[in-house]
Amino acid sequence: MSNRSAEAAEPGQSRAPNDLRAFWMPFTANRQFKQAPRMFVGADGMHYTTSDGRRVLDGTAGLWCCNAGHCRPRITQAIQRQAAEMDYAPAFQMGHPKAFELANRLVDIAPEGLDHAFFCNSGSEAVETALKIAIAYQRAIGQGARTRLIGRERGYHGVNFGGISVGGIVTNRKWFGTLLAGVDHLPHTHLPAKNLFSRGQPEHGADLADELERIVTLHDASTIAAVIVEPVAGS
Ligand SMILES: Cc1ncc(COP(=O)(O)O)c(C=O)c1O
Repeated sequence: MSNRSAEAAEPGQSRAPNDLRAFWMPFTANRQFKQAPRMFVGADGMHYTTSDGRRVLDGTAGLWCCNAGHCRPRITQAIQRQAAEMDYAPAFQMGHPKAFELANRLVDIAPEGLDHAFFCNSGSEAVETALKIAIAYQRAIGQGARTRLIGRERGYHGVNFGGISVGGIVTNRKWFGTLLAGVDHLPHTHLPAKNLFSRGQPEHGADLADELERIVTLHDASTIAAVIVEPVAGS
């Protein structure tokens, strides 16, 4: 199937790609999208521009990646400057001063006890890395029996095997076999009838956290490596 609707675009103008088959889009109904594509070709501040010239308010900040706004000149210039100075340096046995500077700045604003930064390319990779660090840490301190991971129903922790295992989104899990072994799940907190607006701490919900005690007792505390939950449920 191809879409050639933009073939008439003027030279120098953005044009929609005329064949949409090759790009297998994530989390998207591909056939439907390709029958009626919605293309963004530009962005500025809090708006996108579509291929047919409309401005669209970006209510999700580029799925949470562009929270400072799109195409901000200071950010664009910083990216351009760095690409011209040094585009990439390996981090294996070699260093680059700005990576250390960024780690220090992150640690300075992080809560007490979060003293190190490990850089990843995505939330999914960060979650896999966090799970691996948790299990390896237990082994390194002589508690190698602590291998179990506890997540939460409906939780989202990315798209890789560890993340979908501790995550609780059924449609992201059911296709991929047995996933990681030794994972259990807390009950989810999506209870619309109870989660109506309330001031301060709501009266219900503590029992959902107490479920952690039950799960830990079931498996015995000596087998638990880590618990992972979203502080604010998003996806
Ligand atoms: C809590 C949480 N963990 C992990 C991820 C995965 O991040 P990414 O989409 O960058 O792989 C997300 C993304 O929405 C998230 O909200």
